[in-house]
Amino acid sequence: MNAVNMIPDFDPVLEKQVLSEQRIAQLYKDLAGFGEYELIQKESIGVMRSVVMANLGRQPQSDDEIMEAIRPSLKPGFRLRLADNGCSLSPCFDDLFYNPQWLAKARQFMGATLIKPQYVLANLCVAAAAYDRGHIDTPCYRGFGPDQSTSWLRQAMARSGLFEPWRRNFGNFIFWLYRDEYAGNFQYWDRGIDLPPKNIANPYHNSGLWAQNTKLFHRALSLGRPEHRQPLAGLDFDSVLDATDGSGEHWQIRNGPQVLAKYPKQSLRILFHWDFEAFDSLEQMRLVEDPKQQLSVEQMFEIFQSDLNGKGVELSPPTDPLQDENFKKLITENYQLSPLVVPENY
Ligand SMILES: [Fe+2]
Repeated sequence: MNAVNMIPDFDPVLEKQVLSEQRIAQLYKDLAGFGEYELIQKESIGVMRSVVMANLGRQPQSDDEIMEAIRPSLKPGFRLRLADNGCSLSPCFDDLFYNPQWLAKARQFMGATLIKPQYVLANLCVAAAAYDRGHIDTPCYRGFGPDQSTSWLRQAMARSGLFEPWRRNFGNFIFWLYRDEYAGNFQYWDRGIDLPPKNIANPYHNSGLWAQNTKLFHRALSLGRPEHRQPLAGLDFDSVLDATDGSGEHWQIRNGPQVLAKYPKQSLRILFHWDFEAFDSLEQMRLVEDPKQQLSVEQMFEIFQSDLNGKGVELSPPTDPLQDENFKKLITENYQLSPLVVPENY
């Protein structure tokens, strides 16, 4: 990978007709029966709080003040994990998670011998404006996975390009169910951040993309009819989306018993995100768990410190780099990377 320009190891590949119509019909029922879908942004509440606090420039008077500042930026996108930590969470989703054709394609695209499916996310989104100028999904490093470190740090590690020897080799297959005509393109910068993105234009119902989203800037443009993209009144971190019947034909967003909005299934854009880890050999797979092969917090700090010193930036050791707001600010400010050519058509 070109560390500065973020070019993935293989060119993304579009796939059409991912599932049979019969499987799609059943999948809506499976999703309806699986549970309540939680706000996607609930996962990034820590980052959002930091942004609000930085913008305030002072200590907030109360937790409510922070939440009031965050609420207007909440979007009606919801998520559940259908498989997690290498395990399908319901027999309903076994055929997706352990799909032999997908495993074969993952081997082919990654040029790998062994493929370990890690998880499947289902993102269910309704009409909303999008302002994303391109992002990478958060990568994992040996010693720095989701359980050991926060997303902002791993994002900065990725943007720095300094931690490639510890990077875990993930790939993704993402695919959409969305029959409505009102959705913007999915865009991705596979040739680098200094060139225009490529587009997957709606209709992309039952189409998918093989890619490495942790090495590929990408974004989804606005969803739904323009007049339906206004912020949803009452939307909060604890709002949930669930089906109102077992068929998956009708859905609602609610705060506890209070229903905020109802939607037919055609209004939902469902994105499935199958993530897998690729290995050249059993030995390489074992490296991931080998205690001697893990990047330590001290090493991580020294690598950043040495790089920043080379750029004339002083970095004094915090007590705990994972919790220190100054360290976070300095690292985030010094390791910025995002697409330079961003079409203004949201
Ligand atoms: Fe993403």
